[in-house]
Amino acid sequence: MHIGFLNPQGNFDPADSYWTEHPDFGGQLVYVKSVAMAMGEMGHSVDILTRQIQDPEWPEFSQRFDSYPGVPNVRIVRFPAGPDAFLRKELLWPHLVQDWVPNVIAFYANEGGRPDAFTTHYGDGGLCGVLIEEDVGIPFTFTGHSLGAQKMDKLNVRPDDLEEMDDHFHFGRRLVAERLSMNRSAVNVTSTRQERFEQYSHRAYRGAVDVEDDRRFVVIPPGVNLDIFGADARAENETVTRERVRDRLERDLDEGRRGLPAVVASSRLDPKKNHVGLVRAFARSEEVQERANLVLITGALDDPLREDGSAGGTEQEVLAEIREVVEKRDLEGKISAFGLQGQPALAAAYRFLAERGSIFALTAHYEPFGLAPLEAVAAGLPVVVTQNGGPSESLREGDTEYGVLVDPADPDDIAKGLERLLSDEEAWEEFARRGRQRVLDRYTWDRTAQSYLEVLREIVVAPEARRPEKLLPIHPYFRDPEPENDVTLDELSELYFRSGR
Ligand code: F6P
Repeated sequence: MHIGFLNPQGNFDPADSYWTEHPDFGGQLVYVKSVAMAMGEMGHSVDILTRQIQDPEWPEFSQRFDSYPGVPNVRIVRFPAGPDAFLRKELLWPHLVQDWVPNVIAFYANEGGRPDAFTTHYGDGGLCGVLIEEDVGIPFTFTGHSLGAQKMDKLNVRPDDLEEMDDHFHFGRRLVAERLSMNRSAVNVTSTRQERFEQYSHRAYRGAVDVEDDRRFVVIPPGVNLDIFGADARAENETVTRERVRDRLERDLDEGRRGLPAVVASSRLDPKKNHVGLVRAFARSEEVQERANLVLITGALDDPLREDGSAGGTEQEVLAEIREVVEKRDLEGKISAFGLQGQPALAAAYRFLAERGSIFALTAHYEPFGLAPLEAVAAGLPVVVTQNGGPSESLREGDTEYGVLVDPADPDDIAKGLERLLSDEEAWEEFARRGRQRVLDRYTWDRTAQSYLEVLREIVVAPEARRPEKLLPIHPYFRDPEPENDVTLDELSELYFRSGR
């Protein structure tokens, strides 16, 4: 098959430039690249379509074509949209309609071979799928990644600040584009059932998609990169990383405790991730403290228990809370925190710590999918994970547990979960083995790509089979993005704040 990935925001290049450094270069790009590469390896012809940028500050994205060395059948193809400069994703909308979509259509017309289907990503990719299909009839799947209504909820948008928020984020355009995408796609792809039922059922999407309609959704979970996180993989910096971890443990831990297993946590220092709940659980359990140290891996921050370093405002707040518990509960010498950058180093640290019977913990208040625990378990660490969100689907099926699920709001429950794995060698072995097998069976990018391919084959043969009865009309702004056609504040307010109807 010939498959196109519509992903105008961010960008792609062989060096994965700016990944995690800029908000438009995060998990979505990892997802698109990984699925595209897996399809390419399987012999399909894949185009990742993104934006061409002529900007001395962003020199990596100036060429029309690019590729990943050694990866067969995958092209990165870039198209101009609006000004030459890099633009954050919120500012792309008019340029996608005016330039990007026509450029994509013209490119394939010239080349003389269109993709059989598109996968589209985020509301902006989805909108482009809608417009291309209208013009040339190529069916598309829609993968939202992150929906605007939930972002508005998180930002706690109120009628009073709607205008200011919309000026910056263009939520009006985003919600309308998402509604069109989820309505007109051949099918919508979510990572979990919860994503379908909890996120797409937001009142802002009412009338665009029916979450109860099985034809409109397919669950395709993302995967773990086993070349990086596999228990038998080896990073280029494997030895250096092991040395570094050993060195930091020596720096932070009491002499007699340095060989103990670790309870490892590795996520952004964001209040949502609830590091403090984990530190409190550790402080509460004598048994856990006797058997293990607490190890926090903190990205770019190398000694965050003692200095803020480059920590931003929210990170500093989280650190202040952690330090307070450490001091009050006398945990110094039992807790270590240090930075490691890049996935290969993280994976090497997991493998090193797994050798001494460590466990991985993620006690976030809510975790939409939860790839991090799957990466850790693939590398050999059994996991203790929040019961809220994706992990309740990925790490439990019926009565079978693949990780220990805990209530993140209850430090005693977290402590009990940690004790369960630390105090029983057989349980440790069993959870490590079972968890790892679960990832190998279910959560690899090959598997993700195969699931997409099944759906794509289906929609190429019968693009209408899963379509809803009522198609939404295309908003005038997405026909002609002049200011007078823009999504108004009243329209946005009606979509987002409407209640009960
Ligand atoms: O790649 C970055 C990402 O993971 C994308 O899904 C999206 O661009 C972003 O994070 C989240 O988007 P937003 O904050 O606009 O909802």
